[in-house]
Amino acid sequence: MVKHTATSVVTIERFIIEQERMFPDATGELSGILYDMALVGKMIANKVRSAGLADILGATSDTNVQGEVQQKLDVIANEIVVKAFDHGGRLCAMASEEEEDIIHIPEGFRPGKYVLLFDPLDGSSNIDVNVPVGTIFSVFRKITRGSHGEMEDLLQPGRRQVAAGYILYGSSTMMVYTTGQGAHGFTLDPSIGEFLLSHPNIRIPAQARYLSVNDAYEQDWPEPTRALMRRYRGLDGERKALNVRYVGSLVADFHRNLLGGGVFCYPANNKSPNGKLRLLYEANPLAFIAEQAGGAACDGYGSILDVQPTELHQRTPLYLGSKDEVDLVSEFPLPKF
Ligand code: AHG
Ligand code: MN
Ligand code: MN
Ligand code: MN
Repeated sequence: MVKHTATSVVTIERFIIEQERMFPDATGELSGILYDMALVGKMIANKVRSAGLADILGATSDTNVQGEVQQKLDVIANEIVVKAFDHGGRLCAMASEEEEDIIHIPEGFRPGKYVLLFDPLDGSSNIDVNVPVGTIFSVFRKITRGSHGEMEDLLQPGRRQVAAGYILYGSSTMMVYTTGQGAHGFTLDPSIGEFLLSHPNIRIPAQARYLSVNDAYEQDWPEPTRALMRRYRGLDGERKALNVRYVGSLVADFHRNLLGGGVFCYPANNKSPNGKLRLLYEANPLAFIAEQAGGAACDGYGSILDVQPTELHQRTPLYLGSKDEVDLVSEFPLPKF
């Protein structure tokens, strides 16, 4: 009698189908979006991992709507996402960090009932120094009448997301996503080109180990923020210090805190009263994941997921990770900038 010891192999496709079966009236369109995002992850992983060999490192001569010099891989990753989704009939509009305006579905293709917002390559400044980068995505159901997507479909509070996730191009390529039934992690097996379930039902450790923050802005933080960082660092005698880990790729820094326990902070400062990170395709999707894993996310005044967006590329202060650490923010009330 063979004693089976290997764990059951669950591909992301099989997992998506099993989740879909929990909803008898599901049409399979959201599942299709998640499959396609896994495909996008494999395609961008290929580009990222060979970037040092092909002439795709470094910057273009263009600047994006953020005022950032676009890296060649920013543009390549953006194209991969748009081309993967513009004809699939599942989306009626998209929005990208790398494009100023709403991305409409080309004439002749059937628009679908979802919208996709994404950061095609997060952590671009790290590409040339081989530090992990990622892709972040957020999905909403269309709420306006008519077949084509409108700005109102994209400017929904994060609480209404129907799916969100990221792909991390790290020591391994991982995809983490949620549809509101927990947060689940899949690791790419490059030998077969499949994402396999490796982290089912992720729970962020309540006991934080890490603090991720860029100290360069300390002199521009208001006093309550400085006091909060002193608390996290154990400098005010109230608690043990957290280990500071910061690589400058939000996805990589968040993933470490999600699995190891900790808090990622990108506070508002006197020069940037809304911080740097973008609400729609960085803060919202990671906040959804964090909450689904038992964590939290706030902007210093309230939950990220309750913010009513007013423009595509609006920025937000962000505190994201283990719930107790994020809740601590409210003990250091911030001034209105
Ligand atoms: P992106 O590369 O998509 O523009 O995002 C960069 C972001 C985020 O990944 C990271 O946490 C943050 O920029 C780092 O900012 P600082 O260099 O100001 O710390
Ligand atoms: Mn950027
Ligand atoms: Mn980013
Ligand atoms: Mn980016």
